[in-house]
Amino acid sequence: MLALPSPYSLRPMAVADIPAVLVIDSLSFPTPAGEQLFINELTDNKLAFYQVLTRAGERGESVVGYAGFWNIADEIHISTIAVHPDERGRGRGEWLLLNLLLEACRMNPLLVTLEVRRSNSVAQALYRKYRFVEVGMRRRYYRDTGEDAILMTVDFADAPDYCHWLAERVIELTGRPVTD
Ligand SMILES: CC(C)(COP(=O)(O)OP(=O)(O)OC[C@H]1O[C@@H](n2cnc3c(N)ncnc32)[C@H](O)[C@@H]1OP(=O)(O)O)[C@@H](O)C(=O)NCCC(=O)NCCS
Repeated sequence: MLALPSPYSLRPMAVADIPAVLVIDSLSFPTPAGEQLFINELTDNKLAFYQVLTRAGERGESVVGYAGFWNIADEIHISTIAVHPDERGRGRGEWLLLNLLLEACRMNPLLVTLEVRRSNSVAQALYRKYRFVEVGMRRRYYRDTGEDAILMTVDFADAPDYCHWLAERVIELTGRPVTD
């Protein structure tokens, strides 16, 4: 996990985090994911990796963001990423994505993929910043709004260079190298 400047930390998501995750989820997506989905992901899905971004405060730790992926054969598929609205626009989403991509580097996939709503220009800008490119479109993919999904990928054919670049981003953002 990426070591972050205090008071922020990243760690694997636990079942006890789900209520806080659901609050952020409901503030972030038109159709919230639901408790059972996260329970299944954390307890049943061996292909899933989920993390939370937490902030330490006077009243203890609070979850301010989360993200996850599935490791399916040679493909890492980013399933979700969200930051509490009060914490957006200050690099938190970037930390979450950067850490997911560093985890992906350890798994040696052929590519990393994701879907994003056509209207979600903020998330698309974040993904482009991390060298995702648009490779396709799934028409009316989102059943809640009927919106199209844009399919974006990072090709890991140049993984050593890409993963080296990610490690340099860590130093730029935190002043510290990646540690295991
Ligand atoms: C997408 C999301 C996770 C980004 O998190 P964030 O903490 O707000 O983003 P950051 O502050 O880390 O910004 C990282 C990059 O995102 C993009 N970005 C962030 N806010 C932006 C804005 N208001 N307008 C355009 N681009 C923006 C930029 O590329 C930014 O890099 P920069 O600061 O060098 O310009 C957050 O907006 C969110 O939770 N949205 C709701 C859930 C969602 O849409 N998830 C994606 C599903 S595919």
